[in-house]
Amino acid sequence: MSTFKRKTILITGGAAGIGKIMAHKILELGAGKMILWDINKENLEFTEAELKGQGYNVYSYIVDVANLDQVKQSAQKVKSDVGKVDILINNAGVVVGKFFHEHTHKDIDFSMNINASALMHITREFLDDMINANEGHIVNIASAAGMVSNPKMSIYCASKWAAIGWSDSLRLEMERIAKGVKITTVTPYYISTGMFDGVKSRIIPIVKPEKAANKIIRGIRKNRVFVRMPWLVYLLPLIKGVLPTRWFDLIVGKGFGVYKSMDEFKGHTK
Ligand SMILES: NC(=O)c1ccc[n+]([C@@H]2O[C@H](COP(=O)([O-])OP(=O)(O)OC[C@H]3O[C@@H](n4cnc5c(N)ncnc54)[C@H](O)[C@@H]3O)[C@@H](O)[C@H]2O)c1
Repeated sequence: MSTFKRKTILITGGAAGIGKIMAHKILELGAGKMILWDINKENLEFTEAELKGQGYNVYSYIVDVANLDQVKQSAQKVKSDVGKVDILINNAGVVVGKFFHEHTHKDIDFSMNINASALMHITREFLDDMINANEGHIVNIASAAGMVSNPKMSIYCASKWAAIGWSDSLRLEMERIAKGVKITTVTPYYISTGMFDGVKSRIIPIVKPEKAANKIIRGIRKNRVFVRMPWLVYLLPLIKGVLPTRWFDLIVGKGFGVYKSMDEFKGHTK
């Protein structure tokens, strides 16, 4: 309970999906101030009104996390309007969902900027205050796609691979220079928020958004280095490390149907 009590939390992509659910649950757990960043004005206003209607202290900012000027300006505004951020949840993410050769150059930058670079730039804005106080928690929502190659996901995989590598390196740095600053990296399999509508998963269960939010929150409270879901994803690094690539292709890719999971991908319909 005390992890969130009277704390100030910033969630990017907090106007929908697991970001919104986490915001609600963390407020229920006693957070003092909730800051939401999102690019979707309509959803953001709706979410802010909804949470304020329940008596919570909510501050919302329309921010495109891929736009560095907006990130810097909004971070300054947060510091003057609200104060120091105790827990930053880098959650905003996007997927394009087509073969690599079908991507435009703009598509490539779109995913890389939102899913990888933005996490670093936003963290850079809030980290110094955390280091100086030797206190804080940064939670980076990556994906199991940051550990498994998959057709129709190459850029998404690349961006999440980058996010994991950066996030866990940052953890090691903080353990060396500011032990009070915690870093958690989250690597979920598919979650039924709409982001991956149309995907098919034959064996590994698709995670329910509520369950995903609960697991991430528990991971923050227990200061987990990695939060993976469902539980099979905990075995992934081991299986990948042990099996020769062609065997992995055969068992996980073909046997489990992972490599065909994106074949009927639609994504958000609106
Ligand atoms: N849904 C899944 O299957 C799944 C699986 C693994 C990891 N993830 C990751 O979890 C995170 C949340 O996913 P979700 O399923 O809740 O997604 P979602 O699409 O339901 O919500 C994402 C939110 O991010 C916001 N957003 C998108 N681009 C933005 C930008 N440029 N600036 C600011 N906000 C922006 C959207 O408006 C939306 O409110 C993402 O990082 C995603 O990659 C999702």
